[in-house]
Amino acid sequence: MSATGSELRRGPFAEGERVQLTDSKGRLHTITLAPGKQFHTHRGYLQHDDLIGSPDGSTVTNTAGFQYLALRPLLADYVMSMPRGAAVVYPKDAGQIVTMADIFPGAVVVEAGVGSGALSMSLLRAVGESGRLHSFERREDFADIAMANARAYFGTDHPAWTVTVGDLVESLPGHVEPGSVDRVVLDMLAPWECLDVVGQALTPGGVLICYVATATQLSKVAEAMRDAGEWTEPSAWESLVRGWHLEGLAVRPQHRMHGHTGFLITTRRLAPGVTPPLRKRRPGKGYDDVASGADADPGVPEALPGASAEEWTPEAIGERVPSDKRVRKVRRSVTG
Ligand SMILES: C[S@@+](CC[C@H](N)C(=O)[O-])C[C@H]1O[C@@H](n2cnc3c(N)ncnc32)[C@H](O)[C@@H]1O
Repeated sequence: MSATGSELRRGPFAEGERVQLTDSKGRLHTITLAPGKQFHTHRGYLQHDDLIGSPDGSTVTNTAGFQYLALRPLLADYVMSMPRGAAVVYPKDAGQIVTMADIFPGAVVVEAGVGSGALSMSLLRAVGESGRLHSFERREDFADIAMANARAYFGTDHPAWTVTVGDLVESLPGHVEPGSVDRVVLDMLAPWECLDVVGQALTPGGVLICYVATATQLSKVAEAMRDAGEWTEPSAWESLVRGWHLEGLAVRPQHRMHGHTGFLITTRRLAPGVTPPLRKRRPGKGYDDVASGADADPGVPEALPGASAEEWTPEAIGERVPSDKRVRKVRRSVTG
């Protein structure tokens, strides 16, 4: 069987597969097919056996005469419905990361943190079986959830993937040879703390991409990249995806959208000993100028946050942190 799961993405529905059912109101239900099992709602039930062996894209009618459309979930569907420890990178951002960080088949990629494994799955798909994805995650419980999620999706442990439980700064040097990594993807609170080790691991010209939730993190990591002096001028952006409502003459943007997920910032590793060309523009004031009060500009509020490490917590940047009880429950449910 191919470890990228291609067999699991084709052909008739088989026992053990996850199938997404859509009812006539567009409501989604995900079931795992098991012989003899039934899927119940308050309006009748249907037999899993009616789906096992049917082609992808079939319809099935339940005991009360309601019809469901049955489809194999795409990766984007799967990551949005899989069990979570940490918040996931949404498919729109995962697509941007794969393309803009130029993740190619056969690439050697380092990723941290792993969280729930959503981004890892897109990276594994892009590097393929001939590539390598070295992922690092501080929390063992999150790493377990991510590995279980990926195993359920690929049908087996992906041969290109190694997950190390530990902090990237401490663990990376022991796991990769200096200058051997093609691409690095950081989705964490404080990516600026990892720039030194990432710089040593990356090959000259290698790409670093960071996904951060707030503008304050974006600014801090951009300044750290510039100060390090071994990176190209960073470029940053966000992507907004607005779905469209398509019904008769009512063809218009949907009323609801995800207004904000995160910012992306990329830079490339310069060759050893090379200093970046001088920037033509005079850089604006940074946090340190403001915090120290030096050369104070009356137009700049002094209350801007300083750069002390304790301030960068998930709560401080408005992230919802799952309780330990909840994470234990998710871990139990996916690892059995
Ligand atoms: C938002 S989550 C990552 C979500 C993941 N990209 C996904 O799509 O499912 C951020 C993770 O980074 C981990 N983390 C933060 N700093 C880290 C570090 N220095 N080394 C390793 N993991 C780190 C956290 O424990 C957390 O699980």
